[in-house]
Amino acid sequence: MINEKALFCKINNPQDAADKESPIAKKHVPVIEVPQVVNAGEYFDAKIKVGEVEHVSENEHFIQWIEFYIGNVYLGRYDFAPVMTKPEVTVSLKLSHSGLDSTLRAISRCNLHGLWEGATQIKSK
Ligand SMILES: [Fe+2]
Repeated sequence: MINEKALFCKINNPQDAADKESPIAKKHVPVIEVPQVVNAGEYFDAKIKVGEVEHVSENEHFIQWIEFYIGNVYLGRYDFAPVMTKPEVTVSLKLSHSGLDSTLRAISRCNLHGLWEGATQIKSK
């Protein structure tokens, strides 16, 4: 059972959450779609959406923002207002170095349920 107040005390990360299959995790963990292998120095599209199951976008309950990183390197952020936006973005990114495995991380914030992290590996050649 998830203690909802405790959600605000940390970044909720599906890697260490026993509850990753829980309904609340499925609505909040960012899902990232990228090519498995990309060419270093060339832009590729990364699609980031919040939740395997669509999160609501209502005045009382909504996703406030998504930030994204390669490892711990900050790349960007999108802010959302409720009702008229869907917390889903496609952004063009490029990796500078070849032969590296890079982790693309996305962190979202729900006004009621706190911070949630999703991640995926990208290989560059
Ligand atoms: Fe939420």
